[in-house]
Formats: sequence, structure tokens, C-alpha cells
Amino acid sequence: MSPPSAFERWLEPADGRAVPLPPALAKVYGPLRLPSRRGRPLVLSNFASTLDGIVALDLKGHAGGADISGFNPHDRWLMGLLRSVADYVMVGAGTLRSVPRHLWTGDHIFPPARKDYRALRKALGKPPQPVNVVVTASGAVDLSLPVFASGKVRAIVLTTSAGARHLRSEGVPPTVQIIPAGAGRRLRAGSLLEALPRPPTDPILLLEGGPHLLGDFLTEGLVDELFLTLAPQIAGRDPTTARLGLVEGRAFAPGHPLWGELRGLSRAGDHLFLRYRFAAPGRGPRKMD
Ligand SMILES: NC(=O)c1ccc[n+]([C@@H]2O[C@H](COP(=O)([O-])OP(=O)(O)OC[C@H]3O[C@@H](n4cnc5c(N)ncnc54)[C@H](OP(=O)(O)O)[C@@H]3O)[C@@H](O)[C@H]2O)c1
Repeated sequence: MSPPSAFERWLEPADGRAVPLPPALAKVYGPLRLPSRRGRPLVLSNFASTLDGIVALDLKGHAGGADISGFNPHDRWLMGLLRSVADYVMVGAGTLRSVPRHLWTGDHIFPPARKDYRALRKALGKPPQPVNVVVTASGAVDLSLPVFASGKVRAIVLTTSAGARHLRSEGVPPTVQIIPAGAGRRLRAGSLLEALPRPPTDPILLLEGGPHLLGDFLTEGLVDELFLTLAPQIAGRDPTTARLGLVEGRAFAPGHPLWGELRGLSRAGDHLFLRYRFAAPGRGPRKMD
């Protein structure tokens, strides 16, 4: 797999700080600017969706984003780029269970750009890989999976006190930190952010799913920007297939609608790459211009 061709950029934010992309990455993407955020990590999220809003085809064998994007190289390259600017890449336990051998690093998702991703992290003063963060209320995650046991990444499990007790009784690998972040079956997104150790400057968290965890962050107004790959397929639904949409477990419209501001728009072939900014869910419909 070679580096993908350049994205066609139609709209990009003019504000925010410029990320010092190495020439090989800038040649594919052009400039990348990210907003600044004080007091808590900047939260970016990245998903791939079909035209009909589906992000996982089913829960047996075809559950991941790759089936949604059609293994699209631009989608994978961009995911690698976003992982490479992040201090933390966070997923819920459901996402880990769907791709148990995955590592949430640029190297893993798009190996041909490994050298350039690493050069970017070095220029940003970040360690070679982002910390992989898994969220689980139950603590029912397998600590022998590569994300915990391979030693290739540092990992944090954010869980409940009961989940932490359970995991510690299983034997925790040396690269893994178990951090209790509350109680109950659903930890608050704000508590998850507060529980993370702070890197020295301007921390960035990349939230890669899944739809339940994204719903919790959106509910608390804690997603600063969503990078959404729109794949040119219609997956459909019927009563025999359980298919997840971008958000599950939370409903916003019409009572608390969540409108986004389009910040970026790029194209590669028939795929669209969107960037939306979100505030907290509101009370009424947004006025049309
Ligand atoms: N197309 C894409 O871009 C994309 C991106 C990501 C995921 N996906 C797909 O989405 C599917 C998984 O969806 P999902 O909604 O089940 O994933 P998920 O949000 O990753 O996982 C749900 C589980 O994560 C834990 N969790 C989530 N939010 C929590 C919170 N606030 N507090 C405590 N624990 C929390 C819970 O684990 P416990 O049950 O252990 O308590 C919960 O059962 C997979 O098929 C995956 O491939 C697609």
C-alpha cells in the first residue's frame, strides 16, 4: 500500500493552531489546523458512516469501520494522522470486543506512513505512540489482548471501582494502568476526562467510538470536533440485522437537538471527509439562514 493521492480540499478551518505536518503528510492532506482548548483535553472524534448513517454492519464478522468505508485508504490514512496528533485514543469496550487484535496507533492502521506519523509525533514532542484508553463499566475486558499485553503501547482502562477490583484480581500487565472513574453502569464523560493523567501541554483526546461512548460525550457537550468519513454505500436495515447508527443509547432531536457547524470538507474519489464542530445539545431547532 503506497500513500494515497492528495485529498481534494473544498473547505478547511482558517482558525486554530497549525499542526507541523512533515512534508510527506502535508502533500496528501494540505494544512491541518486544530482548535485550542484550555482546562480540559481537546476532544476530537473520528467515525466512518454509510450514507444511511450506519457505522457497524452487524455484530458477527463484519462489525468494524473497515466494512463501512470499504477499506478506503484515505480513511485509514486520515485515521492514522489523527491518532498521530493525539495523546490519548479512547474506545469503549464494545469497540475493543469487535476488533480485539487492534492497536489504536497510526502505525497499525496505515503502516506505509509509519515513518511520517512518527516524525510528526516527534515534532509535537509526543512519545512514539498515543496512550490507548479503554472504557468499561463492567471491567469485563481481556487483559491478554495485544492492546494490553503486547508492550507496544501504554494503555489505560477507565472503569468503576468494582471493575477495577475485578481487573486487578486478573493480574495487570506492566504497561497498563487501571483507573476508577466513578460508579454505576455508565460513567460520566466529564469524569472520564478528569480521570486521565495530564500530559505536559495541550492534551488531545481522539474518541474513536463506539456509538454508545460517542453518545455519552455528545450529551455532555464534550466533543469539540467530529471527523466523519461518509462512505458512498447504503447499507439498509431489516428486522433480522442489528445495525448500529452513529449514536446509540442517547436521543437528542427533537427535544434537545444537536446541530453541527461544518468546518471542513474534503473528497477522495466518491468518499467525503467532513469536519463538524459541536456545542452542547440545545433546546430548540436552529434557525435556517
Ligand atoms: N464505523 C466506525 O467508525 C466505528 C467506530 C467505532 C466503533 N464502531 C463499531 O461499533 C460497534 C460497537 O458499538 P458500541 O456502541 O457497543 O461500542 P462502545 O461504545 O465502544 O462500547 C459499549 C461498551 O463500552 C463501555 N462503555 C461505553 N460507554 C461507557 C460509559 N459512559 N461508561 C462506562 N462504560 C462505557 C461499556 O462496556 P461494559 O459493557 O464492559 O461495561 C459498554 O457496554 C462495533 O461493531 C465497532 O466496530 C464503528
